[in-house]
Amino acid sequence: MCGIIGVASKTNQALQMILQGLEKLEYRGYDSAGLAYVKENNIVITKTKGRIKDLEEKINKQDHASIGIGHTRWATHGEANEINAHPHQVGKITIVHNGIIENYQELKKKLESFGYSFRSSTDTEVACALLDYYYQQTKSVEKAIQVFMKEAIGSYAIGLLCQEEKETLYALKKDSPLILASSKDTNFMASDIPAILEYTNTYYLLDDYEYAVITQDQISFYNKEGEPLQKEEKHYDATKEASSKGSYPHYMIKEIMEQPDTIWKTMEPFVEDGLASLKKLPSLKKYDRIDIVACGTAWHAGLVGKYFLEEYASIPVDVCLASEYRYKRLFLSSRVLVIFISQSGETADTLAALKRVKQEEGDTLGIINVKDSSIARFVDRVIYTQAGCEIAVASTKAFTAQVAILILLALTAAYEKGTMKEKEVLTFLEELRHLKAKLTPLLSNREVYQKIAEELYQKEDIFYLGRGLDYDLMMEGALKLKEISYIPSVCYAAGELKHGTISLVKEATPIIASCTNPLLDPKTMSNLKETKARGAKIYLITNNEELAKDKDIDSVLLLEKTSEFLVPFLVIIPLQLLAYEIALLRKCDIDKPRNLAKAVTVE
Ligand code: F6R
Repeated sequence: MCGIIGVASKTNQALQMILQGLEKLEYRGYDSAGLAYVKENNIVITKTKGRIKDLEEKINKQDHASIGIGHTRWATHGEANEINAHPHQVGKITIVHNGIIENYQELKKKLESFGYSFRSSTDTEVACALLDYYYQQTKSVEKAIQVFMKEAIGSYAIGLLCQEEKETLYALKKDSPLILASSKDTNFMASDIPAILEYTNTYYLLDDYEYAVITQDQISFYNKEGEPLQKEEKHYDATKEASSKGSYPHYMIKEIMEQPDTIWKTMEPFVEDGLASLKKLPSLKKYDRIDIVACGTAWHAGLVGKYFLEEYASIPVDVCLASEYRYKRLFLSSRVLVIFISQSGETADTLAALKRVKQEEGDTLGIINVKDSSIARFVDRVIYTQAGCEIAVASTKAFTAQVAILILLALTAAYEKGTMKEKEVLTFLEELRHLKAKLTPLLSNREVYQKIAEELYQKEDIFYLGRGLDYDLMMEGALKLKEISYIPSVCYAAGELKHGTISLVKEATPIIASCTNPLLDPKTMSNLKETKARGAKIYLITNNEELAKDKDIDSVLLLEKTSEFLVPFLVIIPLQLLAYEIALLRKCDIDKPRNLAKAVTVE
């Protein structure tokens, strides 16, 4: 989850490049930061608790460097403080690390018996000592790396400087992402593309158990035996503007506003030409069951996908949290497809679940946003969502893009299996083609959400209720509110409330609900009235004009009547905006919420 960067430059601007890169990587972790650079004959280390701007203030403004490494941290071992912040230095070796060394306790004991002592509570300092130990034995950083790779268990993307080789930077990787890149005068290593987009959009990928040797002139790649490797140059299809806020105050609101475009961009290749383009999606005909595996918001997208695949294509779907799926019995066969959904393509639990399914020879499909990410490269087939760089920690545009693909998969499967007639499929495709125009008014209506936010932002808790598809969407709405505003918000299936949780409803408890399914709406309305009878205040999102007139509803957002295929987009956007406006009034750090980070690369 941490962000790392390394720079070897022909210029003396390495410090600025590291700081700029760290700012772009800050969404990956932001509790402490640090950097190390070569100054004359020494390696200078500066670190701090807090953000990159705090680090910037601590750096000696007179210093210039042409080589260095930097880190922005999301604490795993040991609290967020200066001692635990990276870089760590032991003996001749200085490193920054993203990942977890799982056998660090065992390695620590061994290294202590060799005379090493440790200042921090981190696994990274142990990794650094291990690299130093083998460096002292062999007097070769490359040899030390090769032995380290055999001995360290866990995940790592590491940038390394050695006191004795001050013109060289090393990078090594296992299970945590790492890219290398070159601009006209500088070579880079980084955990993520936004760090280098300012300088170049071509890059190389390091695979597990590989390392790179980086100087200002070149980057050389090796496998764990030290044999040279040739790497294919990759191209990232975005400009540096893609990872900037533009005129918006937060990435989150920029990303919410981008959705009409990102959903369309994601769907376009599969809807532009009617059935012919829909057929570009993988066939699901041979499958009797689908398992969808994901975490967090991507898991919610999976729930929405389940609804459409079951309702319209009659395929039974299980939606599983990756952290559970990776350890449970799987019951796979050639008639089961496992779909992995992930924005980052690096989520540790999702990746581990995928590795397990591959071991058991299951069929896999990925719905992934980040091109060439680990999950994208490991699945049998991948469909890329076209959400572009998602920087805000709270996922918005990736969610709607994932839902768009799942809906199209359901339509394809329904057509193939004959559960929907060609004419019906074409009608829905046509409706999806006009989605953009229906979303724009929802986004231009910010005063509506601001007004509700005024009423809600000081509440101690907020309930979200729904049934069926509405329940799935409310879960995502409640997650958005919790993560960025810190208001405890629980989501319940409306019918479940009476089985215990209604005891929490009291005078003026806010209930947010959506009713978009004529079969289920009367039931949900009864449940809402039960809460009203106990003093609750009801905020309803619906496309049913009659419900909107109900006297027990305190506030209504009336949506345009559409087919169900458009409902997820129309319901979730108001919920995203409401969470944003509430967090804004509460003066929360919206793009970097407390304790969270983007791309959860640890278990
Ligand atoms: C919530 C959020 C997380 C992610 C989850 C999975 O707003 O962003 O719940 O959805 O960590 O991440 P990816 O999609 O990268 O696998």
